[in-house]
Amino acid sequence: MSSNITPHRALVSPGQRAALKAQQPCVLWFTGLSGAGKSTLSTLVDAALFKRGHHTFVLDGDNMRRRLCRDLGFSDADRTENIRRVAETARLMTEAGLIVLTAFISPFRSERALARSLFAPGRFVEIYVNAPLELVEQRDPKGLYRRARRGEIRQFTGIDSPYEAPEHPELELDTAHFPPEHCVRAVLTYLEERGLLNPPADIRAAGSHGREGDSSFPQPDRG
Ligand SMILES: Nc1ncnc2c1ncn2[C@@H]1O[C@H](COP(=O)(O)OP(=O)(O)OP(=O)(O)O)[C@@H](O)[C@H]1O
Ligand SMILES: [Mg+2]
Repeated sequence: MSSNITPHRALVSPGQRAALKAQQPCVLWFTGLSGAGKSTLSTLVDAALFKRGHHTFVLDGDNMRRRLCRDLGFSDADRTENIRRVAETARLMTEAGLIVLTAFISPFRSERALARSLFAPGRFVEIYVNAPLELVEQRDPKGLYRRARRGEIRQFTGIDSPYEAPEHPELELDTAHFPPEHCVRAVLTYLEERGLLNPPADIRAAGSHGREGDSSFPQPDRG
């Protein structure tokens, strides 16, 4: 970071913003093969949370690539930069008090670990949307596997670019065997059990003293 940069402190803390929204900001990070169901499930969970009065937002791969990340391709380096931007955007949104859902293949463990490192423990929920390649190739909702098999698309995850399955996701959704409604319920149950849908325990704890001592919004150790 340039030594000419001095971060400017806000007068309203992330904890106060979370208290205003009466929710626990976090990111629900959906990862999985193309066609596994990330967009389908993240939009359904988004709608279910919205209906309950939560302030949420979905960051979806295709939408991000049309704008913020339109200069990036699909090389390993560009994929990693794509995910870095998405993770930083999600982090800003959680600081603003939102529950953020992201729907990106995010095939590499290292890039998901980098995303996780931006959030406090418990605030990064990795959701492995799991379906075998044979099935997602049959589904092929965008016709991308057909094109990749014909050699029209290079570096396609699962075909000629690897997908590194999460080793310890917070949640795994088996979309080969369970319908969307079941998967959505599993996410909502997880969030309820972790208390992530409750208002911050003590609004006063959000304090007026910035982030230090802001127990409702623990910050990651950023070294
Ligand atoms: N249990 C399920 N959960 C989610 N999607 C399912 C399920 N069962 C079948 N599907 C179907 O699988 C397809 C998943 O497509 P979707 O666009 O959500 O995938 P994606 O993971 O977002 O892919 P991409 O990475 O290409 O954006 C949809 O056509 C959906 O209807
Ligand atoms: Mg999608």
